[in-house]
Amino acid sequence: MGMYAVLHPLFFVIFIAAVYCWSGPQDAVHITAILGESVVFNCPVDFPADQPVPYVLQWEKKGEEIPIYIWYDSYPTHSGEGYEGRVSRVSQDSPYGLASLNLTNIRESDQGWYECKVVFLNRLPNSHKNGTWFHLDVHAPPRFSVTPEDVIYVNLGDAIILNCQAEGTPAPVIQWYKDANPVEPGGTSGIFNDGTELRISNIRHEDIGDYTCIAKNGEGQISHTARVIIAGGAVIMVPPSNKTKLEGEKVQFTCEAKALPGNVTVRWWKETTPVKQVASLETRVTVRRDGSLVINPVAAEDTGQYTCQVSNGIGEPQSASAYLSVEYPAKVTFTPTVQYLPFRLGGVVQCYIKANPPLQYVTWTKDKRLLEPYQTKDIVIMNNGSLLFTRVNQNHQGRYTCTPYNAQGTQGSSGPMEVLVRKPPVFTVEPEPLYQRKVGESVEMHCDAQEAEGTQKPIIQWQRKDGLPLQKARLRVVGGNITIDSLRRTDFGYYHCVASNEVATIVTSTQLVVEGTQPHAPYNLTAVPGDFSVALSWLPGYSGGPDYKQDYTVWFRESGESDWSTIPVTPSGSTQITVHKLNPGTTYEFQVIGKNPLGDGMLSKVLTVRTLELVPKPENSSSSRKNASQSSNMDGPLPVKPTTTEGFYNPPEGPKPGPPRNVTVTEISNGFVITWQAPLEKAHLIQYYEIKYKTDGPWKTLNRGQVRPEDTSYLVKNLVGGRTYHFRVLAYSAKSYESSDEIKFPVPARVKHKAITAGVVGGILFFIVAIILSVCAVKICNKRKRRKQEKEYNMVACRVTDVRNGGQTAPVSQVPLKKVVASYRDYSLELP
Ligand SMILES: *[C@@H]1O[C@H](CO)[C@@H](O)[C@H](O)[C@H]1NC(C)=O
Ligand SMILES: *[C@@H]1O[C@H](CO)[C@@H](O)[C@H](O)[C@H]1NC(C)=O
Ligand SMILES: *[C@@H]1O[C@H](CO)[C@@H](O)[C@H](O)[C@H]1NC(C)=O
Ligand SMILES: *[C@@H]1O[C@H](CO)[C@@H](O)[C@H](O)[C@H]1NC(C)=O
Ligand SMILES: *[C@@H]1O[C@H](CO)[C@@H](O)[C@H](O)[C@H]1NC(C)=O
Ligand SMILES: *[C@@H]1O[C@H](CO)[C@@H](O)[C@H](O)[C@H]1NC(C)=O
Ligand SMILES: *[C@@H]1O[C@H](CO)[C@@H](O)[C@H](O)[C@H]1NC(C)=O
Ligand SMILES: *[C@@H]1O[C@H](CO)[C@@H](O)[C@H](O)[C@H]1NC(C)=O
Ligand SMILES: *[C@@H]1O[C@H](CO)[C@@H](O)[C@H](O)[C@H]1NC(C)=O
Ligand SMILES: *[C@@H]1O[C@H](CO)[C@@H](O)[C@H](O)[C@H]1NC(C)=O
Repeated sequence: MGMYAVLHPLFFVIFIAAVYCWSGPQDAVHITAILGESVVFNCPVDFPADQPVPYVLQWEKKGEEIPIYIWYDSYPTHSGEGYEGRVSRVSQDSPYGLASLNLTNIRESDQGWYECKVVFLNRLPNSHKNGTWFHLDVHAPPRFSVTPEDVIYVNLGDAIILNCQAEGTPAPVIQWYKDANPVEPGGTSGIFNDGTELRISNIRHEDIGDYTCIAKNGEGQISHTARVIIAGGAVIMVPPSNKTKLEGEKVQFTCEAKALPGNVTVRWWKETTPVKQVASLETRVTVRRDGSLVINPVAAEDTGQYTCQVSNGIGEPQSASAYLSVEYPAKVTFTPTVQYLPFRLGGVVQCYIKANPPLQYVTWTKDKRLLEPYQTKDIVIMNNGSLLFTRVNQNHQGRYTCTPYNAQGTQGSSGPMEVLVRKPPVFTVEPEPLYQRKVGESVEMHCDAQEAEGTQKPIIQWQRKDGLPLQKARLRVVGGNITIDSLRRTDFGYYHCVASNEVATIVTSTQLVVEGTQPHAPYNLTAVPGDFSVALSWLPGYSGGPDYKQDYTVWFRESGESDWSTIPVTPSGSTQITVHKLNPGTTYEFQVIGKNPLGDGMLSKVLTVRTLELVPKPENSSSSRKNASQSSNMDGPLPVKPTTTEGFYNPPEGPKPGPPRNVTVTEISNGFVITWQAPLEKAHLIQYYEIKYKTDGPWKTLNRGQVRPEDTSYLVKNLVGGRTYHFRVLAYSAKSYESSDEIKFPVPARVKHKAITAGVVGGILFFIVAIILSVCAVKICNKRKRRKQEKEYNMVACRVTDVRNGGQTAPVSQVPLKKVVASYRDYSLELP
């Protein structure tokens, strides 16, 4: 204000002058300045007649009403609004003119027209000169006003916009680079809004990288780089590990995670409660900045599972757990001052212990003397340290202490415990051993007990032996008596009446039988699997009433199949059955249900049984022959398994023929002929037949080799008279087989005798065979052409030789021999 007051008279002059002083910018001086720098407007003073006279210097800016700078002699200078401190005269020694103005710290708003005016005070107004005009151009290098984040986390498929705006004079141009190359708009990326926006609509892997925007004008260029990164959920790199600590120590669990972005939050739980909410941990727990959990000091109750969960807000949080085991010397947690032992019964004097690591042993004192239970009959220290008295007597009364130990030692003994021997309660009323009622009726079962003198009255409770809850709604309890109304089948069972007081708990039981129901479920179902059958047996459930008999039905199915098959069990009431016609190596489910005149009962529990596997039949017939003799030697326990309609071995995949049909056994003079018919279906697949037989034992293979597919009969000798033989014929394809039905053949008792006869006859006939053999040999040597026709004959002859060498089995008589050769080729074999 002071300055204006001083200058006031001057203004009048100046404004008058200004009216005359506009001069066009045609001869103006053009100056370009850089933002923030300074500029000098050079303005000389031409004194009239070159004689210095007093003058007022003023600088005006077009558009501003008040001059931006006024100087007059020694008066304080005036600076216009916004120019304070930025305008000054240049020093008088400088090469610039006397009226030159130094404008510093140039702003963009400084751009415009300036006029330098010098007014000579002692001259007439009209004699003044026009001022000098300047035009100032302010240039600014680019500077960013908006830039993208330095790091941008994306997921594939996201859309993002990178925004880069810059100011400057002249207006900067924005250019975008991805890594080192200019961004080519197109596809999923585009550049919008004068280049300030780079949009990527569907981020792919190849879009990941560094994006740089460059702002450029004549005064310079600047750049900003944004890194586009695929975001990743937090992954635990160092999970916590199990720790064992002594009470009072410090424990630290790590939980290090990696994530993008890396702002991972780590949370900790003890079991399922956040650690901060676990009251006992409150003052001792800290979660460090690196995510690790510290408990200091640890206490016994800190033992447990600790779980950390990491998350950066992306994806599912990960978690990891570790166990803390806090060890401490074994301690007594509770000392009952009085404990009771029931006279003449078994009883326990308790020692309440906590220990980690687990209890090793407990020492006891009685009346201040060490108790040595292993020297004392009737007293045992149990695993949990308590003392078991198998039969209490008065001498057991006394004052006891216990001291527990573990690997860390002990925290001391219990206090003294007064052990009193008292008579236990006794039942005054006991329930009957058995209550039989009909469905819908009610039953009242009685029970009462009385305490011994000086002890408390026992509490009497009823329980089911199987632990199921009693149905309160149908129950009335008066004292020790219990009444169950509207009896149901489910009320059937054993019941306990339990009487307890501080001295002992005594139990008595009864059975409640609810009659007039359907049978209860059979139980203890057991199975003996065969390969084609399963032998089942079970225990009957309650039949429903004393007058009822029950019959059973077996339900079974292949596991995973939906349909059950049923088989009625005969004879009536039998509790076992063999289920046949199953497949080997297959899992079946069995259930048994009983039925009485009231109807079907309840199904037993499901029993799952797998039938036995059969040894897979090798496909190579020559090696199979070898292996058959190794693993399933005809004289040994065969390929293991019996048979069914399905076949002998668990068939591997592959086409198989149909079953051989109409197997029959016919007795002939020198043995038995097994005949069959070729399968109706796929008979062309047959590579050979095999015959299986058994009597009482396991199945065996009859023919050491295999029967050729074109043959359908086979001679067997030496079947033992009086036995019943079972036969099956198996038709083998390359990879599978199919079995005929099983047939039974009782060998007449007289056969044994006959076999001996045959043996004797055979012995005589041997010589004839030998002659034939030598004749045959000569013929072979001499007439090879005929070999083919004689081949079969020859083979038989050789076999007969073998038989003689083996000397164990009866040879074959000559006359049937020819027939055998003709009909049965070399398949005839003897059975043991
Ligand atoms: C001064 O300004 C006036 C008005 O614009 C103009 O006519 C005159 O030529 C100027 N004189 C000089 C010396 O420039
Ligand atoms: C203009 O003023 C600035 C700041 O006071 C100074 O640094 C500069 O030297 C001056 N220029 C001239 C030509 O006097
Ligand atoms: C940690 O302890 C728990 C429980 O004791 C156990 O199941 C788990 O296997 C332990 N882990 C390791 C790495 O030892
Ligand atoms: C971490 O940062 C990302 C993006 O910066 C945000 O979405 C997320 O919520 C943050 N996560 C946490 C746990 O602060
Ligand atoms: C110790 O074990 C016995 C038998 O299992 C049990 O009856 C007793 O209550 C247990 N005592 C304690 C203190 O756990
Ligand atoms: C329980 O039943 C018995 C025998 O009927 C009877 O003597 C006794 O008084 C009953 N107890 C109660 C509390 O009703
Ligand atoms: C029934 O089976 C259970 C175990 O499976 C066995 O303990 C029990 O003795 C069996 N009961 C009978 C009567 O065989
Ligand atoms: C069958 O076995 C014989 C003799 O061991 C062998 O030469 C032949 O290659 C085998 N054939 C196949 C198909 O394995
Ligand atoms: C025959 O048996 C032997 C040994 O028992 C076995 O190594 C071989 O693989 C079997 N051959 C076939 C074809 O099963
Ligand atoms: C074969 O057995 C079937 C029934 O299994 C019978 O119908 C058929 O007549 C029998 N054929 C011969 C030739 O015995």
